[in-house]
This record gives sequence, C-alpha cells and structure tokens, in this order.
Amino acid sequence: MQMNHKEINEALAGLGKISASGPPEMVAMIDQVIDTVRSQIDVVFSEHAGMADELLRAYEQLGIVFEVISRLASAETQDDVVRLFIESLRISYQDMELYSAERRKGEKLCWTPRKPNRAMEFSETISECIDNQRVFVKVFDRAIEDVAEIMAAPVFAGDNFVCVLVFVNDRKGRRFDASDMSLIDALVSVCGDLLRNYELADRLRELSIDTVKSLVSAVDQKDEYTSGHSNRVGHFAKLLGAEIGLTGNRLQMLEWAALLHDVGKIGIRDDVLKKPGKLTDEEFEHIKEHPVRSYDVVKAIPQMSEALGGVRHHHERFDGRGYPDGLAGNDIPLDARIILVADVFDALTTTRSYRKAFDIEKALAILREEAGTVGDPELVPVFEKIIQRELAAGRLPLDSYGTGIDAPKNDQKEANP
Ligand SMILES: [Fe+2]
Repeated sequence: MQMNHKEINEALAGLGKISASGPPEMVAMIDQVIDTVRSQIDVVFSEHAGMADELLRAYEQLGIVFEVISRLASAETQDDVVRLFIESLRISYQDMELYSAERRKGEKLCWTPRKPNRAMEFSETISECIDNQRVFVKVFDRAIEDVAEIMAAPVFAGDNFVCVLVFVNDRKGRRFDASDMSLIDALVSVCGDLLRNYELADRLRELSIDTVKSLVSAVDQKDEYTSGHSNRVGHFAKLLGAEIGLTGNRLQMLEWAALLHDVGKIGIRDDVLKKPGKLTDEEFEHIKEHPVRSYDVVKAIPQMSEALGGVRHHHERFDGRGYPDGLAGNDIPLDARIILVADVFDALTTTRSYRKAFDIEKALAILREEAGTVGDPELVPVFEKIIQRELAAGRLPLDSYGTGIDAPKNDQKEANP
C-alpha cells in the first residue's frame, strides 16, 4: 500500500495514541521512535518535493530549447534568425510580455513597450545588461503596472550588438531564478553564434561573387564588345528570379549560373569570337560549343551542381531549335529560360561587332515578338514589367551599359547573343 505524507503522519499519530496506554518507559520510547521516524519522513518528502519541482523545470526548459532550436533551423538569413528566435521565445514564455529593443545604426535604443512608463523604468537594467553583455534580472520593490521583475538578455553577434530581449514577469507567477537566467544566457549565445556564422557566410559569399565577377569580366573582355555582359546578365536574371518567387540558395544558384553562363568562351578561338564579318558554318559550330565548355568548367565545382542546368542550356530556344541539346518548352531548366531572356535583352541593348545597340523599347519589342519561339512566353512579360519598373526608377541603363563602342560592322545574324 502506498501512503502519502499526510497519511503517514496520521498513522504515526494513531500509533502514538495506541501506545499511550502502555508502561511510561515504553510510551516515552515509542514517542521518541515516532518523532525520529516523522522527522526522517519529513526530510525524505521535502527532498522529493524539491526533486519533482526541479524535474518539472528541467522538462520545461528542455521544451524551450527544443522550440528555439527547431525554429532556428529554418532560418535562411540573419533577419530570419532574429525573427524566429524572438517568435520561439514568445511561444515558450506566453505568460509574459516579451519586448525586443534594437539599436539602429548607432542611434538610441528603439523599442515600444505597451505601457510607456516601462521604457523609463526598465532603461537602466537594459543599459546595464548591454554594457556588461550578460543577462540581468531586476526586481521591483514597488508595483509598477503589475511588474514584479524583468529579465533583460542582450544578443551579440561577436562584438556587434543586435538587440536586447526584455521578459516582463507580473506579480502572479513564479519568479525568475538562476536556472532561467542560465537558460536564456545559453539561448542568446546560440542565437549570437548563429548570427555570427551567417555574417561570416554572407561575407564569404560576397567575396566569392566578387571573385567570380572579376573572373567573368576577364572572360568578357576577350571580346571588347561583350565587356560587362555576364555581370549584367547576372543582375537581370536575379531580378527576374526574385520576381517569380525564387529566394535564398535557389536564387543564389541562379545568379551563379547567370554569371558563369559564358565562361566557356575562354576556350573559343579569338579569331572566331572577335570576327567582325559573317561566321562560316564551321566557325558557328565552334562558337556553339561554349555552353558545354561553360558547363565543364562549372561541373568541376561540386558546390555549384545546382547551377549546371542554367549554364548548359542557356541557348536552348523555347521552340526546341536551340543548342546544345535541342530541349524545348518546360523541358529546358527554369534557370536556363531565365538566363536566356536576360542574355538576349543584354545582347540586344549593347553594341556588338556586327550591329549597333537597339534601344530598350526596341529590345523589349523583339523579346515580345520572339516569346514562345525563343524566350519563355510566361517569363517575357514578367521581364518586361521589371525593365519598365527599373527604367521608371532611374536604374537603367546600368553603369556598365554602352561601352563607347560604336558603328555596326555588318549585318551578321544574331547567332550568339
Ligand atoms: Fe552564351
């Protein structure tokens, strides 16, 4: 039979009453035994009660860690990390108010508490936690709008302050203890480390993109007429990809593919690439090798495997009469269809060895006329809308447009945009 604390005490009291009728020495001895047993049992029960509370707290905290980590796993950007971190804490601490105070570009700390007096009352604690870069709890002796205490936790990415989180505990619930502080301290550290990693990854990505941009510029400069072409195609392809909803790594791969689409031209003979006159069939076949040559270059970089389709198929026409594989319609990878539209537009709006640049309206008209035969008929109208928007916003022509090259040399067909 299992007995709880109260039942055991009652049983011991009953035993005391029964033994009271015995000899005095016996009664005294039994009372002493009963007192000893009672005090031992009190100790055992109070220890168990403490352990049960601690177990419950540990279980709750484990739930909070799980909630935070599983949400952070879906972050793709630094902004995502901060947003998801705060969201997950709001879910875990839904019985409290949680404020996030940010400092933007060295300005004053910016936050909007629901009750304005709090900004003043809490500011000292917030400053203290930022200055010391650690979690602070401030207990209020007098009631301030039902606030019993606040816990302020700063998020730093390396040395850079990101924001401070302020948990507001009212007078009804449990008070913050050391385990709350160490849990929040650990979580803001995880968030800070993650932000730092994203920052480093972003810097690395920018560095890689800059390196690739200089590499492709060098390739573009093999032919003076295509200077800046790959960077502009990268720019337009990225705008089009973002407009149709590509994001994150998917959009990044499209940009890589667009930047590198013509890198294989490095293997095309100069006399063919720069030939001002009409190409012979053999020369045209040689120049048509460049998408596969680009593909072979990019294939050597395992991290860019998702960019391969866009690179290899950027000259596939929508009607299937392109090269190198004669793919048609939606069999052509989406990235390649995007790059083709950006590529044709840039080729038309820049002067080539065989003709002068068309103006933007004329280039858009040609893209429109060829939608469904050359370009994807669903992408062309979206691209046109983007170009009109960029024109209206004064972002076109791009800086690198019009390289000062003039005079068309002959009427060579648009073989190689
Ligand atoms: Fe090309």
